[in-house]
Amino acid sequence: MTILEATNPVDTAETAAKDTIKMKEADLNEAATESDHKTVGDCFVENPKFSVRDANVYYGDKQAVFDVSLDIGENEVIAMIGPSGCGKSTFLRCLNRMNDTIDICRVEGKIELDGMDIYDSRLDVVPLRARVGMVFQKPNPFPKSIYDNVAYGPKIHGLVSRRVDLDEIVETSLRRAGLWDEVKDRLNQPGTGLSGGQQQRLCIARTIAVSPEVILMDEPCSALDPIATARIEELIAELSENFTICIVTHSMQQAARVSKRTAYFHMGKLMEVNETQKVFTNPDHELTEAYITGRFG
Ligand SMILES: Nc1ncnc2c1ncn2[C@@H]1O[C@H](COP(=O)(O)OP(=O)(O)O)[C@@H](O)[C@H]1O
Ligand SMILES: [Mg+2]
Repeated sequence: MTILEATNPVDTAETAAKDTIKMKEADLNEAATESDHKTVGDCFVENPKFSVRDANVYYGDKQAVFDVSLDIGENEVIAMIGPSGCGKSTFLRCLNRMNDTIDICRVEGKIELDGMDIYDSRLDVVPLRARVGMVFQKPNPFPKSIYDNVAYGPKIHGLVSRRVDLDEIVETSLRRAGLWDEVKDRLNQPGTGLSGGQQQRLCIARTIAVSPEVILMDEPCSALDPIATARIEELIAELSENFTICIVTHSMQQAARVSKRTAYFHMGKLMEVNETQKVFTNPDHELTEAYITGRFG
């Protein structure tokens, strides 16, 4: 038998195995599109910081988030995971009304922060976004000095009037973001001159400078190297003592390392919410299981 012939049965077996996986995927996707879906696990907590009920989000005619109900506890770190395009970012943006900035986007349902309806038409979104801050995928410091990046929020929100108080907020925020020692001698240099990991910590300092209660993070480490990522993950653990943190991540290892609960999204639906350890060892939903074992995503 030639080597070429010898590889054929292997190829065939591989193709067959792939086909089986594909079929399984189709079955799973069918399960995901069933209309009477219900989230499994523990979606609700006592005294939630955020309470979301029946959230539906549309971009024009296209629905991106379906009937999501979820509580987020005070000072909890909750991770949102799921295949690309499943609605994680869209859902996250509901929590501080960032979807308002997208013209064709429409949010339905009830979302309360400490019992206050954040979609109340009389609500001013500026203070809301100070209470619920956001850190994005790509570090986006303003084209300003390191100092001004952090001082900007407290200034526009009128939190301080005296320069010494502002100095104090800038220092405290940079310290809490684990960046102070690296930048204290060059506060007047541009924030954009820092490394990627430092820029992301600067953005975190900028977010915490206005004393938020909740920090939303949308894949905050996806543009960072492993060392910078580890630094941010440590920081998340420290910040969770004082803040509620919702983090979207495409890294299951990261979700496992930083969060207490994990929410698994699939095609716009919230399939499962459970203690993180359970989600990664013994999930309740077959789709979660398929995702964490790498069958799609
Ligand atoms: N600004 C937008 N305009 C139109 N469709 C969008 C917009 N943002 C996201 N979508 C669509 O909504 C769905 C969910 O996207 P997204 O929330 O970004 O998913 P994820 O963050 O899980 O990758 C996708 O089908 C995506 O194409
Ligand atoms: Mg996203």
